[in-house]
Amino acid sequence: MHRVSTARLTSAPQDVAKAARLLAEGELVAFPTETVYGLGADARNGRAVAAVYEAKGRPQFNPLIVHVADANAAQTLVQWNGNADKLANTFWPGPLTFVLPLLPGHGLASLVTAGLPTAAVRVPCHPVAQALLAEFDGPIAAPSANLSGRVSPTTAEHVLAGLSGRVAAVLDGGACPVGLESTIVDLTDATPRLLRPGGVPAEDLARILGAAPTPADASSPVSAPGQLASHYAPRASVRLDAALPLPGEVMLGFGPMEADLNLSVSGDLGEAAANLFDYLHRLDAMGRPIAVAPIPDVGLGAAINDRLRRAAAPR
Ligand code: TXA
Ligand code: MG
Repeated sequence: MHRVSTARLTSAPQDVAKAARLLAEGELVAFPTETVYGLGADARNGRAVAAVYEAKGRPQFNPLIVHVADANAAQTLVQWNGNADKLANTFWPGPLTFVLPLLPGHGLASLVTAGLPTAAVRVPCHPVAQALLAEFDGPIAAPSANLSGRVSPTTAEHVLAGLSGRVAAVLDGGACPVGLESTIVDLTDATPRLLRPGGVPAEDLARILGAAPTPADASSPVSAPGQLASHYAPRASVRLDAALPLPGEVMLGFGPMEADLNLSVSGDLGEAAANLFDYLHRLDAMGRPIAVAPIPDVGLGAAINDRLRRAAAPR
């Protein structure tokens, strides 16, 4: 993790424009939303998304929430439906996140969704978040802007206490009015599922949907962060710490070596993270067992290895 000096930006238009430029350059910018401060990256840039996990010191690749300017922008990424329409009309912009199937050509980095066929999308109502999304004119992936395992930040000072020197800038928009994360509802199926309670009470969702969403269960992201049952696992068997492929195997390489696909020839863990899910999908499509080269278990390597161990686990 290289150190940077973290710029403290105000909500003035020229500072918001500076923040949008940094995002476009693949840098990380923490910004206020009505719920908590988010650690933002260009959701289409796999390297930038990998840097989010690195900055947070997150040992696992949980899928991230994609922030967009409005429902129209969301509809270019995910497959919309009647429940999404009803809820968006009532609660967007605001502290409510939808999980919906990805559309073909969505353009999001595979690391944002951790390889899932769905994405979590939300339109924040904080004026500074809105200004940043308008200026950036693209989807912003953002988990809460805290070190992994620490309390979510609701002021710019909280962000700097944890992430100073690890992100390019923080946009200061004052204290977050809601102060806890968005409600997440999975709208993929006809029966909505409440994945995480948050800023919009479940009772309010029930009023609009006509029935209460199915409550979170053991497979929800809240009770088991990063351990979603639906997490992408290849159909093919996966063999870790392989020096060479056995006959019939396809090889996922790392560092200078012969391989069918190489996560990073130069041994860059950020590049490897950005390529991970896409390459697993591509190798899986070849329909042969997958051998994976050893990945150093430091920095982002810990999250890469966590994901690979899950992919290799007997099922
Ligand atoms: O209020 C919030 O939602 C804040 C602000 C910054 O917007 N963001 C936030 O993001 O809390 P994060 O990354 O800390 O939480 C994302 C949650 C995770 O628990 C993740 O498992 C779930 O959303 N999630 C993301 N994509 C998903 C998907 N495709 N299916 C199921 N759950 C998903
Ligand atoms: Mg969080």
